[in-house]
Amino acid sequence: MNGVSRGPGRWWRPRSLRTQLLFWLITLHLGAAVLTAWFSFVAYGNLVHNALDDQMRLVAESYAGSDPQKLPRPMDGEAAFSRGAFIVQIWSPDGATLRATSWPVLTVPLQARPGFSDVNTGAHSGSAWRVFTAEPGSRADQPRVQVLQNEDYRRRRALRRALLEGLPITLLLPLALLILWIIVSAASRSLRAVARDVASQDERSPTELSLARVPDEIAPLVGAFNNLLSRVRSAFATQRRFVQDAAHELRTPMAAIGLQIENLRAHVPAGEATERFNQLEAGVTRAQHLIEQLLHLSRQDAPRAGHAGHASERVDIEVLLRDSVSQLMVLADARRVDIGFEGGIAAVVFAPAAELRSVFDNLIDNALRYAPEGGVVDVRLHEVDGHAVVDVLDNGPGIPKEAIDRVFDRFFRVPGAAAGGSGLGLAIARTAAERHGLRIELRNRTDGPGLMARVHLPAPPAA
Ligand SMILES: Nc1ncnc2c1ncn2[C@@H]1O[C@H](COP(=O)(O)OP(=O)(O)OP(=O)(O)O)[C@@H](O)[C@H]1O
Ligand SMILES: [Mg+2]
Repeated sequence: MNGVSRGPGRWWRPRSLRTQLLFWLITLHLGAAVLTAWFSFVAYGNLVHNALDDQMRLVAESYAGSDPQKLPRPMDGEAAFSRGAFIVQIWSPDGATLRATSWPVLTVPLQARPGFSDVNTGAHSGSAWRVFTAEPGSRADQPRVQVLQNEDYRRRRALRRALLEGLPITLLLPLALLILWIIVSAASRSLRAVARDVASQDERSPTELSLARVPDEIAPLVGAFNNLLSRVRSAFATQRRFVQDAAHELRTPMAAIGLQIENLRAHVPAGEATERFNQLEAGVTRAQHLIEQLLHLSRQDAPRAGHAGHASERVDIEVLLRDSVSQLMVLADARRVDIGFEGGIAAVVFAPAAELRSVFDNLIDNALRYAPEGGVVDVRLHEVDGHAVVDVLDNGPGIPKEAIDRVFDRFFRVPGAAAGGSGLGLAIARTAAERHGLRIELRNRTDGPGLMARVHLPAPPAA
C-alpha cells in the first residue's frame, strides 16, 4: 500500500476496528464469565450447604427420636470422602461413651454445644468435618446423637454446581466472538470494496462512489469523498480547458509567424543577419512543437468519454512501427542518422492506433533527436522471456541514472540535452502506454553508449 504510514496504535486501542472490537469484547466476556462464576459460586455454595445441613439435622433427629434405638449402618472411608455419606454417632446420655458409629475410624468427640460446628481432626487432607450435634433428649436414658459429613465433599459439590451454572456464558463466548467476527468482516469487506472503487478511478475523470453497499456509519465519509471528487473533477476540467484553449489560441498566430518568417527568408541579407534569422526560425519551430505537444497532452487528459474518435482496434504492431519509422525518416535524414527496423515476431495489440503511435513516435523521435549526427538507431520487435517487446536503441549519451525516473515528468529535460524538445514527449508516451496496458522501461545500454527504450506489449487479446 502506498498510503501514509501508520503506527501500530496503543495496545488498548489498536488501529484495526476488528481487533479493537474483539479485544474489548473478549475482555468483557471473560470478565462477565468470572463474575458470574464467582456469584454463582457464592450463591450456590450457600444453597448446597444449607440443603446438606438440613439433611444432617433430619438424619440426627430421626436417630434421636427412634424407639427402640435405631443403629447406624456401617460404612467405609470411600463412602465418607467420595460420596459424602453421613457418619452417625450414638453416644450415651451423659455423652461420655460412644455406643455405636457408622465409621469407627473417625474419632470426633461429642461436641459440648448442640447445633452445627466445624471440626478439624488433623493435618491430613479431608480432615475437616461439618458436625451436627442433636440436643439432649427429654428422657434421662435417651442417647445423644451426632452426625458428621466431610467438608471437602461439600465444597466439591458446591463448586461443581457453580461451574455448571457458569457453563452457558463460557459456551456463549466463542459463539459471540464468531458472530462478531462475521459482522465485522462483512463491514470491512464493504469498506474494502469502497477502497477498490477509489483505487480503480481514472484520475482524470473520477466518478462518484456508489453508496449502495456502504454501511450507514461510513456513508457520510463516502459522501464527503464524493463531494471532494466532484470538486477535483471540475478543477481538473478547468485546468485542462485552460491549457487546451491557450495552446489552441497560440497555434494560429504561431502558424502565421511561421509563414511570415518563411516569406521573409528571401529578403534577409547574407551574413550575420542570416544567422540571427535562422535562430529566430528555430525558436518559432520549437514554440510550434511545444504548442502541438501541449495540445496533445490536454487532449490526452480529457475524460475517456471524450475519446470518441479513438476507438480501440486490432493493431498490427509491425505495420504500425514501419509507418512510424517511415514518417520519421525526414528527421533521420536531416540528422544523417542510420535508422533500421527489425521485426522478428507478429504482435497484435487491441487499442486505438493513434494512441499507440504516440507511444512509439515519441520514443523513436527521442532516439533520432538525441543520437549524435550520423549515429545509429535500431527499432526491434521481438520476444523476451516469452513476452513481446519493442526496443528502440540509439547510440546517444543515454540518461544519467539520477534522472532516469524523472524524464517521464512533464517539462523535465536532462540538463544539457540537445535543444528543441519541450520535455513532454515521454509524459505523453507513458500516459498513452499505461492506458492500454503497455509499459515503458528506459535503460542505459551496457554494450556501448546510448539508451534502450523498451516497450512491454500486453498479452495478445484472446482469439
Ligand atoms: N534517447 C534519449 N537519449 C538521451 N536522452 C533522452 C532520450 N530520450 C529522452 N531523453 C531525455 O529525456 C528528456 C525528456 O524526454 P521527452 O521526450 O519527454 O522530452 P523532449 O524530448 O525534451 O521533448 P518532446 O519529446 O516533447 O519534443 C529529454 O529532454 C532528454 O533529456
Ligand atoms: Mg521527446
